[in-house]
Amino acid sequence: MSRLELLSISRVYQSGAAPMTALDGVDLVLASGEIVGLVGESGSGKTTLARLAVGLDRPTAGTVMLDGRPLTDAHGRVPRAVRRRVQMVFQDPLASFNPARSIGGSIALPLRFHTDLDRRGRRARIAELMTATGLDPALATRPPRALSGGQLQRAAIARALATQPDLLVCDEPVASLDVSVRAQVLNLLVRLVRTRGLGVLFVTHDLGVVQRLADRTLVLWQGRMVEAGEGAELWRNPQHPYTQALAAAVPTGLEPWRSRRRSGLGGAGGEPAHHVAADGIIEGGRR
Ligand SMILES: Nc1ncnc2c1ncn2[C@@H]1O[C@H](COP(=O)(O)OP(=O)(O)O)[C@@H](O)[C@H]1O
Ligand SMILES: [Mg+2]
Repeated sequence: MSRLELLSISRVYQSGAAPMTALDGVDLVLASGEIVGLVGESGSGKTTLARLAVGLDRPTAGTVMLDGRPLTDAHGRVPRAVRRRVQMVFQDPLASFNPARSIGGSIALPLRFHTDLDRRGRRARIAELMTATGLDPALATRPPRALSGGQLQRAAIARALATQPDLLVCDEPVASLDVSVRAQVLNLLVRLVRTRGLGVLFVTHDLGVVQRLADRTLVLWQGRMVEAGEGAELWRNPQHPYTQALAAAVPTGLEPWRSRRRSGLGGAGGEPAHHVAADGIIEGGRR
């Protein structure tokens, strides 16, 4: 079990003439086995918060803790053992790959750094990760530019999962994907939550998805956390005007995958109880 806590986080950027407050006193908790949705309009501070959550950036005020200890050391670095446990999938998949390195070479890096697998072991693990994310392992030898946006985003997820992290921060991970691929990626994430107890912070502005996927959802608005709610509750009874506007724009009557599982309507075996349909919305919960 891992537990990431962001406590009273503020982040002020000192670029340009005036300081820019991107986050102002934000709290967020992410634990193993849960999916936390983070929604908010463009510029509300979602990416800033995601980067702080994995230690890529440091807050101006407030603290980030993993299992009760600071995420970063005295030098502001995330210790190696911690980095293995908390991984991130970036918003722009192309920018997150080294153009000079093959896809397999990129996925091999965290394996070289965090595991003692030999060359052969790494190759097998890369093929396994690529298959799990719906990629042909033959693409491992290709450079990033040879892959489509959807393939690259799946490779980014494969790379993030290489170290078998406890917690995964996904910054709009499906925004660039075709609807059918989007469903495949969402299914994979839910399956990892169910079978491996992965904890996922899911940053998105796709409300239909977050409404079905998230156990809890947090709403950012102009750098402040204006609302938080469990499962479908947030969308049934939104309080903040921004959340009310969001709720009005998403289809009603959607049921989160977990409530289906609890009510015994789920599928059999190790598969997720729901199925994400080709439109990216999890199937089966429509009343
Ligand atoms: N490195 C930076 N320097 C200055 N301002 C930034 C930087 N990164 C983000 N911002 C500003 O902080 C605000 C929040 O940005 P961001 O976290 O990217 O929001 P979101 O991901 O919700 O679109 C925006 O107004 C953005 O322009
Ligand atoms: Mg962003």
